[in-house]
Amino acid sequence: MPAVVIIGAQWGDEGKGKATDTMSGRIDYVVKFNGGNNAGHTVVIGDEKYALHLLPSGILTEGVVPVIANGVVIDLEVLFDEIDTLASRGIDVSKLRVSSSAHIITSYHRTLDKVNERFLGKRQIGTTGRGIGPTYADKINRVGIRVQDLFDENILRQKVEGALEAKNHLLVKIYNRRAIDAEEIVTELLSYADRLRPMVTDTALELHTALRAGKTVLFEGGQATMLDVDHGTYPFVTSSNSTAGGASTGSGIGPGEFSRVIGIVKAYTTRVGSGPFPTELLDESGERLRRVGHEFGTTTGRPRRCGWFDAPIARYSARINGITDFVLTKLDVLTGLDDIPVCVAYDVDGVRVDEVPVNQSDFHHATPIYESFPGWSEDISAARTFDELPANAKNYVRAIESMAGARFSAIGVGPARDEIIILHDLLD
Ligand code: GDP
Ligand code: IMO
Ligand code: MG
Repeated sequence: MPAVVIIGAQWGDEGKGKATDTMSGRIDYVVKFNGGNNAGHTVVIGDEKYALHLLPSGILTEGVVPVIANGVVIDLEVLFDEIDTLASRGIDVSKLRVSSSAHIITSYHRTLDKVNERFLGKRQIGTTGRGIGPTYADKINRVGIRVQDLFDENILRQKVEGALEAKNHLLVKIYNRRAIDAEEIVTELLSYADRLRPMVTDTALELHTALRAGKTVLFEGGQATMLDVDHGTYPFVTSSNSTAGGASTGSGIGPGEFSRVIGIVKAYTTRVGSGPFPTELLDESGERLRRVGHEFGTTTGRPRRCGWFDAPIARYSARINGITDFVLTKLDVLTGLDDIPVCVAYDVDGVRVDEVPVNQSDFHHATPIYESFPGWSEDISAARTFDELPANAKNYVRAIESMAGARFSAIGVGPARDEIIILHDLLD
C-alpha cells in the first residue's frame, strides 16, 4: 500500500498536518502537490509547536524525504525562511527535493493578489494575500516562471519581461500603481538560485522510482475539497486542485498508483475568508467553538468562521475524492455541549435537498436542516480506544459516520501527537 493521499474534506484546517505527522514514522516520502504558503499546518510534538506553510508536515520526522512537487507554487523567500527556522530548531531539512517544474511566486504576484482583492470590493475572496491566485493564473496563461528558469539567466529575463509587459500596463493604467522593474525581479530571483540548485530534481521520476522500490509515499494536500478550484464553492476557492485528483497531476504519479485516499474531517466546520457556509453560527455557539477549538488561522491569524458538522459536505467530499477512510478530528472540542446539532440536509427555497447543490446560488440559499444528538461532559482527551469514549460521543461519531459515506478510521481527541484513537490502520 505505498501511495496514500491525505486531503481536507471541508474548507481547510481540518488537522491535515497532525494526521500526516501521526503516520510519518512509517512513511519514506511526504509530497506537497498543490497550493503554496497559503496553507498553515500546526503540529504539536511534546512541548514543541511547529507552524508549517510551504514545507510538508512529514518533514518533522527524521528520515522522511520531503518533496515539493510540480503542482506547488513556491515563494522562495518563504521557503528559505521556513528551512532556516526549522533547521535552527534541530529539524533535518537536508533531504528536501523541489520539482524543477514548480512555479515561482514573485513580488508582482503578491502585489496583484492584494490589488485584485481591493478591486473586487464587496465580492472579495478574502485570500491569504500570498500571491497564490495570480501565480496559478500565470501558469494557466503560460507566462509563469518555473524553478528551472532560475538556472538560465537569459531565459529568466525573457520570461520575466514577457510576464510583466501586460501586467505593467494594468498596474499603471488601471490600478494606479507604479510599474515593476523586470531587472529587479530577475536580480532577486537569481539571488536564490545557488542555494536552490542542489534541491532541484525531476521529482516525478524520483517518486516513481521510490514507489517501484516499495517505498511508502504520502501525498499531503493543502487547502481542502470545498476550496478546490473545480469542485469547491467557486469563486470563493483557492486556485489549485486540492482534491485527490490533484495528487496525480500535481506530482506526475498516475492515478492507478494511489491505493488509499484519507479525508480529514473536523467534528464541526470552519471556514476562513468569504463564501457560502450554510451551518455558520454567528451567535455564542460559534464563539464557543472558536474559543475552545482555538480557531484562528495559522497563516493569517484571522478568526475562523465556525459552524456545526455538515453531513452533505462530508458525503460530497467522499464522492469527489474517492475517500476510503476519514480521520475525524477535534471531537474533544465538542465536550461539554448539551446537544450537538448536525446538518443532515438543506432547505433550498422551501425544498429539501439532500446533497450539496451543484448550482452556487442554490448553495448560497441553503439553510441547514438539523438533527440533534445528546452531548457528553466527560474529558475524552485520554481515550485511546473507541470503547473508552462516553456513550453519547460514540453515538455522535457513529451517526455522522453513517451519513459521511466512508468509514472513520481514526478520531482526534486533542492536538498532541498521541491524542488519537486508531480504529483501522491507515497504512496497511
Ligand atoms: P491543517 O491546515 O489541516 O493542517 O490544520 P491546521 O493546523 O491549520 O488546524 C488544525 C488545528 O487543530 C491545529 O492547531 C492542530 O494542532 C489542532 N488539532 C488537530 N487535531 C486535533 C484534535 O483532534 N483535537 C484538538 N483539540 N486539536 C486538534
Ligand atoms: P490549509 O492547508 C483555510 C482560503 C482563503 C481564501 C481562499 C483563497 O491550512 O487548510 P488563496 O490565498 O488561496 O487564494 O485564498 O482560500 N484558504 C484557506 N483556508 N485553510 C487553508 O489552508 C487555506 N488556504 C487558502 O482564506 O478564502
Ligand atoms: Mg491550516
